[in-house]
Amino acid sequence: MRILLAEDEVTIAVTLTDALEGAGHEVVHVADTASALEQLASSKPECVITDIRMPGAGGMAVLARSKELDPARPVVLVTGFATVDQAVEAMRLGAANYVQKPFRNEAIVAMVETFARVKSLEDENAGLRRELAAAQGIEGVVGASLAMQQVFGRLRTVAPTDATVLVQGESGTGKERIARAIHSLSPRAKGPFVAISCAALPETLLESELFGHEKGAFTDARKERRGRFEMAHGGTFFLDDIDDMPLALQVKLLRVLQEREIERLGAEAPVEVDIRVVAATKVPLRLRVSEGRFREDLFYRLDVVRLVLPPLRERTGDVPLLAQHFLARQAAGRALSIPRAAMAALERYPWPGNVRELEHAVLRAVSLSGERTELALEDLLPDDPRWKSLAESAVREANEGVRPLREVLHERERTEIQRALAATGGARMKAAELLGISRKVLWEKIKEHGLGEEGEAEAQA
Ligand SMILES: Nc1ncnc2c1ncn2[C@@H]1O[C@H](COP(=O)(O)OP(=O)(O)OP(=O)(O)O)[C@@H](O)[C@H]1O
Ligand SMILES: [Mg+2]
Repeated sequence: MRILLAEDEVTIAVTLTDALEGAGHEVVHVADTASALEQLASSKPECVITDIRMPGAGGMAVLARSKELDPARPVVLVTGFATVDQAVEAMRLGAANYVQKPFRNEAIVAMVETFARVKSLEDENAGLRRELAAAQGIEGVVGASLAMQQVFGRLRTVAPTDATVLVQGESGTGKERIARAIHSLSPRAKGPFVAISCAALPETLLESELFGHEKGAFTDARKERRGRFEMAHGGTFFLDDIDDMPLALQVKLLRVLQEREIERLGAEAPVEVDIRVVAATKVPLRLRVSEGRFREDLFYRLDVVRLVLPPLRERTGDVPLLAQHFLARQAAGRALSIPRAAMAALERYPWPGNVRELEHAVLRAVSLSGERTELALEDLLPDDPRWKSLAESAVREANEGVRPLREVLHERERTEIQRALAATGGARMKAAELLGISRKVLWEKIKEHGLGEEGEAEAQA
């Protein structure tokens, strides 16, 4: 362990340093408070041992600062003048131990060994937790790539808040999946999740869908109708394809976001709505602003927290994980696997339709798998012209280096005989002995492998 030892009594410092270093630890020694505080930040010790009384504010200040920087780091306080009050205060501040001078160095070394064991267990656990989290993803969103891990990190932080989230990504990258995850991880999880695509409907229909209308608001409005904003009350409202929202509606949306109230078409008074907004865009919304197709003020309202989902071709490391995830879901308990060559081809395919395309490919191959225990390469993307050649080269590569066993054994036999002859200086009797075969068999093998002259010549060389 890397240990910071803050102690102004030279003899104690020297003997304790020797004992700790003797046990394989690394010790940084300082003799006053200011240097101790400095080392806390600069040398990032894994454990701190500090005297209470030393020049400057003393060990209590070192303890407090260490807890601020890294609450898990163990701090041992050492003192010549132990008092119950001080011991209580030390423990309250989170000291791992409180030791009175004089102490046996071995006792401190043993203490440090315990810290080291605990730390290595904790590190191991943290590693396992990370792997597990990566494999399981959150809320059914899978991804081990750095980009997705970052998305998960932000997702965890922002989901429990009411902050507006803008999810950006190409078609099929999982924008809606993420929006649903945000909802499930928020205090609104029990409330409604209402989604609407701004691209699917013509402007007037979209408006009445969003805001609802009163009876008689327009010719066909025979009954009053609640809009989607109202339906999302108490929950999350997912505005899909926000980049396609008509300018006229953008003004109205801005009002909703500012005032948190909506007005049904033909209504006298506005109604309050309590919604959390998540919007999705296929292109950077900035681009739409610069094209004059998106209001800048609305852009700022929406772009509070941005989650960017990279296209699948930029995180090919996620492909096997996602493929396995979809396979496990769709195979429903059947023992079904993806052959190595198929996986290699999947990783190389550019996935223009991103995760959705991969999901469909696996689904198709599973449904065509019949009684087989492996998916067939040609079932995955039968309609894509690139797939055939990708698949063929993947198969070729997967097979590369694998040769018929007879051929391999034959070659190996020849090398072994050559070595035996070389080792015995060409004495066939001894060579046969080394090889554990009779002289007669060796004779035949030498002839078979064409080693007659050559073997002896090499042996003599
Ligand atoms: N990281 C992921 N882990 C697991 N499933 C995912 C992931 N990303 C996407 N999916 C799945 O892929 C499919 C497509 O995702 P989704 O509908 O969220 O994409 P989208 O970005 O909204 O696409 P579009 O822009 O076309 O609407 C869904 O079935 C979704 O569950
Ligand atoms: Mg979508």
